[in-house]
Order: sequence, then structure tokens, then C-alpha cells
Amino acid sequence: MNNCYIQNTNFIIISTYINKKTNLMRIIVCGLGVVGQSFLKLLLASSTSLYKDYGIKPRIIACVDSKGIAYSPTGLDLEKVLTTKQNFGSLKGFDGPKLDYVNYIEDLDAEVFLELTPTNLQTAEPGLSNIISALRSKKNVITVNKGPLALSFSSLIELADYNNVMLRFSGTVGGGTPVLEFAKHCLKGDKITSFTGILNGTTNYILTRMADGLPFHEALDDAKQKGYAEANPSLDIDGDDAAAKLVIMANWIMGYKVTLRDVDKVGISNVKQEDINKAAIEKKSIKLIAKCDKNELFVKPIPISKDDPIYVNGTLNAVTFRSEHSGEQTIIGKGAGGMETASSILRDLIEIRQNMTTYELV
Ligand code: HSE
Repeated sequence: MNNCYIQNTNFIIISTYINKKTNLMRIIVCGLGVVGQSFLKLLLASSTSLYKDYGIKPRIIACVDSKGIAYSPTGLDLEKVLTTKQNFGSLKGFDGPKLDYVNYIEDLDAEVFLELTPTNLQTAEPGLSNIISALRSKKNVITVNKGPLALSFSSLIELADYNNVMLRFSGTVGGGTPVLEFAKHCLKGDKITSFTGILNGTTNYILTRMADGLPFHEALDDAKQKGYAEANPSLDIDGDDAAAKLVIMANWIMGYKVTLRDVDKVGISNVKQEDINKAAIEKKSIKLIAKCDKNELFVKPIPISKDDPIYVNGTLNAVTFRSEHSGEQTIIGKGAGGMETASSILRDLIEIRQNMTTYELV
């Protein structure tokens, strides 16, 4: 279906039809860091229930990291992929058929492309080009990479619509907590007018540990060691990660057309122990707060009352949505972590499967 070099339209449509009949989902995984490896482990653990409960047979036909490609048109042995990655640190030298590293996204037939490369908030690359190639070659895309969405949200949504495929990104906000789905699907018929939340697990963890008396750099090292922080932790500390999530939410949930440049952003590097102690006297804690309403779009450290529903500690994220008719609701959950984020990819995969309509034969 997705090979853009095949010119015969009838063949393309029939090929897709057959794949829907066999419940086969051929998947390309690009990026095999903590989240990518967790996703493969999750697939290994849940293949029976995925078929039984949702009729999905995922087949990973290619895994790609920065140094190599593992490829098998009939489906990779995921244990072997994970072992290779763990033993050698990359997929270079993976034993199997060779594949063109440059054009593999367009060249391979697949229903879904997973873009899991690290977030780059300067250029959004390589994620942005990968997503564009996948959408143009009519593959559904799931990404947990915030860069492309924070910098080019509207054009990517338009490109997906134009090519009649889906772009899903639940894991970009809230890790495994379904923040985007809650706002988008659970409040249908109502209008969200504003939201406020803690969107970054790493800074929440650091501020929580600092409130326990740990110095900033020790708390940061701890967060890095536990795998919460971005590959470049200044994205967490300087508020860029939270700002990217705020932009994604503002566009997807509120229908705004904003990018990172529109966010008034302050990180936590200037938060001092005395600020934390002063807040504690007033039964408050300093949290990195993101807010969106019709007047404001900001990320900044603010003292939050311990009675506020968004007051959460550790790596937890929390968002309060305010709606026209249903009042306020707060969703709380783990905002970072490999397996948690992998669970959001699985949800997106199931949603894509359920939304795939049977193509008309012409
Ligand atoms: N570094 C991010 C955080 C990971 O701490 O929230 C999840 O986006």
C-alpha cells in the first residue's frame, strides 16, 4: 500500500484491503532508545491480548537506530533485536536482509511508522523529515517526539489529512497518562476554556527532591540516572519540554495555532533553596506550571498550594481543565518513563486500527 513507486492504483487498494482482512499491521520503528525498547518489550508481552481484544497482529518489519537497521519483511524477532541493542549498543551489524538507510521510509510497505527519535526543539530534525516522508508515503504515524509537533503542528496535521492517514501523538504529553485523550474525547460537546498543569516529570522530581533538602545538581543527577530526563536535560530544566507540551495541547485541544515562540517561558535553574523554604512556610511548593487561556500561554515556576488538585510530587504530571459546562477536572499520572510512554504508543496503535476504514475497491 505504502510504496510510492507502485503506480497501479488498483493494486495499491487491493493490497490494503487484504491487510485489513488479515488484521496485519506492519510497523516501522525509528528510534530505539528507552521508549522504543520498552515498546518492543510491551509488544512481546501483549501480543496475545492485542489479537484477542482488538484483533491486531502487529508485525515489526524494521527497527532503525542512529547506526543501523534491522529488517525482515515477514516480521523481526523482537527478542533478537533487543538483545543486539543491549549487547552492542546499536543495531549496526544486525544479521538480516540489507535495506537502503536513506529511503527506507518511502520504500517499505507498512501501515504504521513509529517516530521515536530524541526531541530536538531547534530544528525538529530528524523527526520532522521522517514524519513528512511517512505521511507522504501514506503511512499512519505515531510519534512521542515533541519537536515536530511543537514547531510544525498545523502543517503536519494538514499533511496527514491530505494523505488520508492518521497522525497520533498521545505520548508527547503526560507519558502514559492519557491527558490528550481525556481532553479530546471525554469532554465532547463541551468547550475547554483553559487549563493549568505540571507537564514535566523531571523538573517536578527535582523540585520535590529539593523540597526534601537535596541540592539542585544532586536532584538532577538522580533524575538523569532514573531515566526521566531528556537526552539533553536542559530541555527539562529550562522549561522547553513543558513549553513544547503546552504548544501541542493548545493546538490540539483548544484549536489554537501557536508554536514555541508564542510561549512565555521561564525554567527552574534560578529556583533557590530559600524560595522553596519560603513557599513551605505558606504551605505551598514551587512547581513548574504551564498555563493556557485566551490571554496567557506560559511556563514558569510558581508556588502552588498543597490543597490545589494539581499539587503532585515526584515525576507525576497533573492538569486541571476548565470547561464551559462541566466545571473543572484534573487528570493525574506518571509523566515520564519508558514503559509508561510505550503504553501510550499502544493506545495510539489500537486507535489507528479501530479508525482504519475499509477502502473502497475501484
Ligand atoms: N523529560 C520528560 C519529562 C519526559 O521529564 O517529563 C517525558 O516527556
